[in-house]
Order: sequence, then C-alpha cells, then structure tokens
Amino acid sequence: MSKLPILTIDGAPQAIELSPRVHWIGALDPNLRNFDIILKTANGTSYNAYIVRGSEGVAIIDTVKEAYAGDFFARLESVARYDEITVIVLNHLEPDHTGALPELMRRAPQAQLYISQKAQSMLKALLKQDEFDFTPVMTGDKVSLGDRTLEFLHTPYLHWPDTQCTYLIEEKTLFSGDVFGCHFCDVRLFNDEVGDFRFSFEYYYAHIMRPFKEYVNRALALIEPLALNKILPAHGPLLRDQPQKYVQRYRELSSSALQSEISVGEKTLLIFYISSYGNTRRMAEAVYEGAMAVEHVRVSLYDLEGSEISPFVDLIEGADGIMFGTPTINGDAVKPVWDLLSSLAVVNLKSKLGGVFGSYGWTGEGVKMVEDRLRGLKLRVPIPGIRIKLIPTDEEIQLCRDFGHDMALDLMGLRQAKVIDMADLA
Ligand code: FEO
Repeated sequence: MSKLPILTIDGAPQAIELSPRVHWIGALDPNLRNFDIILKTANGTSYNAYIVRGSEGVAIIDTVKEAYAGDFFARLESVARYDEITVIVLNHLEPDHTGALPELMRRAPQAQLYISQKAQSMLKALLKQDEFDFTPVMTGDKVSLGDRTLEFLHTPYLHWPDTQCTYLIEEKTLFSGDVFGCHFCDVRLFNDEVGDFRFSFEYYYAHIMRPFKEYVNRALALIEPLALNKILPAHGPLLRDQPQKYVQRYRELSSSALQSEISVGEKTLLIFYISSYGNTRRMAEAVYEGAMAVEHVRVSLYDLEGSEISPFVDLIEGADGIMFGTPTINGDAVKPVWDLLSSLAVVNLKSKLGGVFGSYGWTGEGVKMVEDRLRGLKLRVPIPGIRIKLIPTDEEIQLCRDFGHDMALDLMGLRQAKVIDMADLA
C-alpha cells in the first residue's frame, strides 16, 4: 500500500518532497464547487506552488489563492528561510496563483521577480503600486540558482496573455502553470496515487485551453522536445508518472478531426435551424439547396431539436461557415439557438462566415439579435439575414435559395460585390 504524503504535522502544514531539491508548498481547497463561475469542481481543487533549492539560491515558483496563504507560508517555512529566497517566478498572474505574492515580496524583499513580457501591465494592476522591481523574460532566458537552472518558455494565452512555463533543466521538470492542470483535489497529490482524474483533465482542457488551440499547438512545439521527468502544474495532480502522456493528449485535443477529412480547397458550411410550424424549416431547406449548388462547399443541415449541444460545438469548431434559422417568439430568437450560441465561447470563431434567417408572426427581431451575437463572437456576417412573415411564398423560398447560394459563394471567395447603379437610386 502506498504511503500518504504527510501534509501536516501537529496541525502545521508541511512541504512535500518531490526531489531532494524540489518541494510542493501549495494548498488544497477540497470544498470549492465552482471555479471562476464557469467550471464545476466536484471535489475541489489545489493551488500548487513549488520551491527549488540550488547551491546559490532558492526559487519560489507561483504562490496560492490569498485565503490559502497561511498554508503556503507554513509549508515554505518548513524547508527554507525567507532570506534565502533569491528568485520568485510567476508563471501566471491570475489571483489563484498570486494571492500570496504581495506578502511574499514583503517577507523576501531581496528576491528578484521573473514574469513573462506580457505580464508587466497586469503585475502593476495586481500589486497596486507603481515602484517595484521585476525582470520580464522570454523563451530561452535562464536564471541560475548555482547547480540548478530555470529556463523560461513563452506560452501566451494558456489561458491568459501572460502565461509562461518554467523548466528546471537539471531535473527535467516542467512547472507548467495552468497547462496540463485540472481542478481535482486529492491528498495523495501524485498522478500515480490519486483517484481517476481523466474526466477533470479533459473538462479543464475543454473549458480553459480549447479556445486557444492555436496557442496550445505553439506551446507544444516548445514543450515536446524537452526531456521530461515530471510536469508540475498549478492545479491538480503532480504528473510524475508518464508525463509525456499528458503532452500527447494535449496534442490530440488540439488537432481537429473534421479538418483532416476535408480536401484542400474545400469549405464546410453548417446550417442549424429550429422550427415550430415548419416555416423556418422550409426556409432552411431552401438555403441548403442554394448552398449545395456551389462546388467545393460541403453543406450540412441540422435540426437543433435532434441533438445535444456538444456534438454541434465540435462541428462548428471545424467549420468555415455557420448559419442559423430561428423563429421569433415573444420578440426573441428561441432558446435552443441561444443555448448553442452560448456554448460557443469555448471555441475560436474568429473570421468564420455567419448568416441568419427565420420566419416570424409579429415583429421578427430574432434574426437581427442572432446576427448581432454572431458579430459579437467575431464571425463575419457579409449578407443581411432574411426574415419572412409566417408561411414563405414561392418567391420567398427562391430568396432563401439565393441567400444560401450567395453565402456559399462568399465562403469560396467567389461572390461578386454588389454594384449599385446610381440610376436605381433616382
Ligand atoms: Fe489557475 Fe488561470 O488560474
């Protein structure tokens, strides 16, 4: 049977040895049930912070949420004196990792602070003081602790602009910040000892890292060549067993399966609709028909009533264009459309093509509202949406076909800009 880490002695929090020169000095928060409003935390989380001892200096890597500063300082004091600290590294400035920073700087005023280039303005806002000393660092910059060396990796947007990772060269250990982390609290600390946390690892990736896949891939290009004995993230289990497995999983999650099946030069257009009396459905089918007539556009038509949201989010992430058909009920687009739209915050939609259409009985605001939302999500909405009062006529159905056709042409870069004849305005 494995031995539990001794987290406290006579009630006093203790540092946990990860190697003779590296200790965990973080805190456990088992009662947290919700993180940053958007994340559920079924068994809480941990705020992982670390201390590294070299022959000529001591480094602290990240701190903890302010409410847990007592645990952090007690663990730190169990293995080092404040006057030994020469280096403080912040991989990420969100308050769950910097809550104890102001007090740490007060207790160890001689320590030099290392942050990423992009963290500079945030640090100023965080400390609420104008004069303080720090060193901004980039990929490849190093700081020596004598026989131990820290090397920085610039990994922005994982998941804030400021984020970086820090590599302890001599021990092949990566302090990864939020990257490879998850909200999972277990007193056994290590990935080969804790309960099965795969669900939490995947959930954390999906909600925190997924919107920044492009940046995840760039960060992986820096991390994959590293020899890795351990990955020590800022939340959740400490990855000492097969750390490469987690790097590989990030690579898999950051690749789009659908994209790989699309031929070069081909585009995807998804049309989602929901319909109460069949009118918006008839419009959707006509839009689909019109779009299908354009070569090299792979068009798909989906009724929102027929699926859960999450498969659609995956499809949308890989698509080039998205269209929504919504009735207007009580002056609004309908809930299934809003539910899908509100789930799209986890994917990058920038520059995708967007379009909206729908039938209405009284006022028809739904189409415009969804259009505004698409623009807010940074989609391109090149053609104003189509609203049709109640049952579409044959002429109106033809308008829908033309709308679908024009959208598909736009997607292929083939739509002619509309030329306004001044004579028509007279
Ligand atoms: Fe764990 Fe982004 O803070």
